[in-house]
Amino acid sequence: MTDLSALEKQFLSAHIRPGGVCVDFTMGNGHDTAFLSKAVGKDGKVYAFDIQQKAIDSTRKTLEQENCPDNCVLILDSHSEAAEYVKEKICAGVFNLGYLPGSGNKALTTKRETTLKAVKAAVALMDDDAVILIAVYPGHEEGKLEGEMLSDYLSGFDRKKYCVSRFTIVNSPTSPYFFAIESR
Ligand SMILES: C[S@@+](CC[C@H](N)C(=O)[O-])C[C@H]1O[C@@H](n2cnc3c(N)ncnc32)[C@H](O)[C@@H]1O
Repeated sequence: MTDLSALEKQFLSAHIRPGGVCVDFTMGNGHDTAFLSKAVGKDGKVYAFDIQQKAIDSTRKTLEQENCPDNCVLILDSHSEAAEYVKEKICAGVFNLGYLPGSGNKALTTKRETTLKAVKAAVALMDDDAVILIAVYPGHEEGKLEGEMLSDYLSGFDRKKYCVSRFTIVNSPTSPYFFAIESR
């Protein structure tokens, strides 16, 4: 059976270079941060953003438990401000939209306006042959609207510069899906 998160990792592995710079735009419990940290290795760098201190604390634990190299910068701020913090070109960026799993606080979810600003910042940071993945959760109202907004926005990208694809389980319309933006 198709496993979308395994597919996401395939995309990341195809574009991440040891020593490269990556961004986790939605840190949460740090599982994606840990994956990126190991993929770029000790000479690389990972910036990770979240608006909740709880996410930073949880991610620190995940990075320690997974013996990740000391290459992560955890930032307590909105991903919409990424351009203020990240000055290097990036080989990969990950968005896992929605709310912190297990937190019970669904009000602290990602929202269209800040998500769009963050995705624009992410695309501006892309190096050649880079990838940005955006996982969308259409099972809740804001997630559904974020997905529609992103679909409209990403459909307008110049095919000569980017390949934008979308991976979805067709017979499970409320299941998560993801967009992949690849630069040439
Ligand atoms: C689905 S979770 C991410 C899960 C994470 N990838 C993991 O591996 O655990 C989404 C996260 O986005 C965070 N978030 C919501 N709005 C944000 C914003 N404007 N900037 C950065 N993070 C935000 C939430 O606090 C939540 O922790």
